[in-house]
Amino acid sequence: MLQDNESAALLDWYDVNARVLPWRIGPADRARGVRPDPYTVWLSEIMLQQTTVAAVRDYFHRFTARWPDVAALAAAADEDVMAEWAGLGYYARARNLLKCARAVVAGHGGRFPDTRNALLTLPGIGPYTAAAIAAIAFDEAATVVDGNVERVTARLFAIETPLPAAKPELTALAARLTPDNRPGDHAQAMMDLGATICTPRNPACGICPLRTFCKGLASGIHADLPRKSPKAAKPTRYGIAYLGRRADGAVLLERRPERGLLGGMLGWPGTDWAGTAPEPGPPAKGNWCPVPGEVRHTFTHFHLILSVHTAMLPGGTNPERGHFVRHEDFRPADLPTVMRKVYDLAFAHGTAD
Ligand code: ADE
Repeated sequence: MLQDNESAALLDWYDVNARVLPWRIGPADRARGVRPDPYTVWLSEIMLQQTTVAAVRDYFHRFTARWPDVAALAAAADEDVMAEWAGLGYYARARNLLKCARAVVAGHGGRFPDTRNALLTLPGIGPYTAAAIAAIAFDEAATVVDGNVERVTARLFAIETPLPAAKPELTALAARLTPDNRPGDHAQAMMDLGATICTPRNPACGICPLRTFCKGLASGIHADLPRKSPKAAKPTRYGIAYLGRRADGAVLLERRPERGLLGGMLGWPGTDWAGTAPEPGPPAKGNWCPVPGEVRHTFTHFHLILSVHTAMLPGGTNPERGHFVRHEDFRPADLPTVMRKVYDLAFAHGTAD
């Protein structure tokens, strides 16, 4: 069968070319019977959603050093986990990470369920993550479809339907490629192929293990696949961030509401982020001054332009919003990236050292 040839060629390639990744049991160890730890497979898959391997590496090392198993993570304080996640983005993932760890401990005796369907019942585990954990940790022949796999599959079968409409078709084709033999290695091989050879631009078809099977290459349209429906332009929103500090070095921070953007993260108090320039509304009385320049940050659905106002607040200030964090307890690295940019802009002007 054609698919057997394809998955055999892919696995042969993976045996030699698998990327060495901190959460991965490589093909040689796997063949010797070494099993991946479902906890680290789960943690890495949550971290890797919407995020590159390069961005995830250090976070993965810090998390596993601090919380080596699911019971340790389940027992962690929410704010410690949010602080470790700071900078990785998509903060709902961190909140769900904790919920999931606690559900595994409370409802499953501290062991991750070992099937795709059971994994799907856990918080923060959707179809992609359930399939990835089932395949990689438990060698279930689950079909794992991420952006890399969509691209490889669209090219291999020359699917010209644009994304996202093409998703069901690509998933069905990816399922046909998934072998019963070594499905975990197959899933990781598809990801590695997409990341290193079948890349969005300038794919290295000359060294691709699937080149003789690739219908997209045969018809010369491979580099244009997958086609994508045009995206709606992102709107721009505006806001003001208030960076207040006291003479003793304490800074005025606020924990954001659990629900919504940057939910549960620390940040500078500020106005709402709206479609037009907002009315000022500082969190405490003070001599607020705008800092020259602005902070620009792009979220999934909008661009944000923030002006930054700073003030040196009197010692007895009782803020209407937020709380003072002592200088020695304040770590800029605990802030999400946009809040870190606010700090950097103020710091660049010598007001927040
Ligand atoms: N991207 C998402 N999951 C991955 C994995 N397990 N290995 C490599 N890249 C990935």
